[in-house]
Amino acid sequence: MKIAVAGTGYVGLVTGVCLAEHGHQVTCVDVDEEKIARMQQGVSPIYEPGLEELMRKNRERLFYTTDTCDAYRDAEVVFIGVGTPEKKDGSANLRYVFQAAEQIAAAACRDCVVVVKSTVPIGTNEKVEELVRRKARPGVTLSVASNPEFLAQGTAIADTLHASRIVIGVEEEASGETLRRVYRDFDAPILVTNRRSAEMIKYASNDFLALKISYINEIANLCETVGADIEDVARGMGYDSRIGNKFLQAGIGYGGSCFPKDTKALSWLASFNDNELKTIKATIEVNENQKFKLVKKARRYYDDFRGLTVAVLGLTFKPGTDDLREAPSLVSIPILLDDDARVKAWDPVGVENYRKHYPTQIEYCPTPQEALDGADLCLIFTEWPEVKALTPADFRERMRRAIVIDGRNCYPLKAMEGEGVTYDSIGRKRIVE
Ligand code: UGA
Repeated sequence: MKIAVAGTGYVGLVTGVCLAEHGHQVTCVDVDEEKIARMQQGVSPIYEPGLEELMRKNRERLFYTTDTCDAYRDAEVVFIGVGTPEKKDGSANLRYVFQAAEQIAAAACRDCVVVVKSTVPIGTNEKVEELVRRKARPGVTLSVASNPEFLAQGTAIADTLHASRIVIGVEEEASGETLRRVYRDFDAPILVTNRRSAEMIKYASNDFLALKISYINEIANLCETVGADIEDVARGMGYDSRIGNKFLQAGIGYGGSCFPKDTKALSWLASFNDNELKTIKATIEVNENQKFKLVKKARRYYDDFRGLTVAVLGLTFKPGTDDLREAPSLVSIPILLDDDARVKAWDPVGVENYRKHYPTQIEYCPTPQEALDGADLCLIFTEWPEVKALTPADFRERMRRAIVIDGRNCYPLKAMEGEGVTYDSIGRKRIVE
């Protein structure tokens, strides 16, 4: 099928490339000419494992352009995968979605299904349909379907090619049939529902996962007080298939471009409709506090960080991505810098983006070991494999004072016991040397 995709961020580009992998002819559209030029050379503008390989493998079926008319003119299906960033009040900014919808309506010369893949508040698909129908060329019928994505950064390709489910929200059978054809060769259960339910499935899924994380983080904080071990507690809970063993990893809170934004957007929408979502409000509040956890713990050892050398391991919101959006490191590092600490940071892929925030105030190190050299304190923000591979001797021998505060529980407690390292992690016994 001839398909176009508006937006070449995580959602748009991964969708386009995976549809090409399944034999469709896909044109990816973006306003950024430089990005388009790089993609035409087979270079991905985002760091996502496996993406460039698939771009190259399917280059005969993949086209990149800034020319919206050319891309949308005769497409049978156009996906909208542009960003829906958060506004100051927490609601979703739909500017780019409507902009893309207008461009599609202005260009489409044949009947086509406009598919909203971006995460949008309930009721948005209707507004998009109203807009594209009003702006469509005479004789062209445009219909709108909701098809939320469930990919996570770092595993986006696998999450798309082997999706847990494909949700299709339509008001007319014909658009549902068109989308079934798009996904004909995907091995995933397909749920067809109405558009509002599809929109809600996306928010309800993300907010439930965020709730699970905030819940386990609260239990972890209590474990520290009462002397229980969160790793064992989570394992014990996870055996119950009604709970499941995923997303029970306690830490310093969720970040990224999705959970923080989607919890706030649903909470805003609920309050706007006089229907406050208490669980989601609590989820957000717990998460905001959890992001300060490492600095709070560090204050047990140092009143302030003035004159100290602090090793920071990991900058991104999770491993497998160079994305810094809502990363807990962006909350804690400013506090260290305000105190005039000397910050030595290591991250395998996040440094380039971090430099945009802190070009000179931080010393970026090529290896985690070098970040540790001479440090009085080590804070772990991201569980990169290179961080997990460090041994107690790395901390003991390289740091001036081996105090490690681990926001991601990278090491088993047993490995750190009796090793001459003070090791303070989340929801577990503190090892003091
Ligand atoms: C998330 C969802 O997992 C995807 O299903 C969804 O499609 C995507 O949002 C989206 O809406 O686009 P993503 O934000 O890429 O994906 O990353 P996750 O792997 O879900 O991690 C989010 C945050 O939660 C990270 O900061 C991670 O460290 C944290 N987390 C995750 C925990 O603290 N504990 C856990 O057990 C799991």
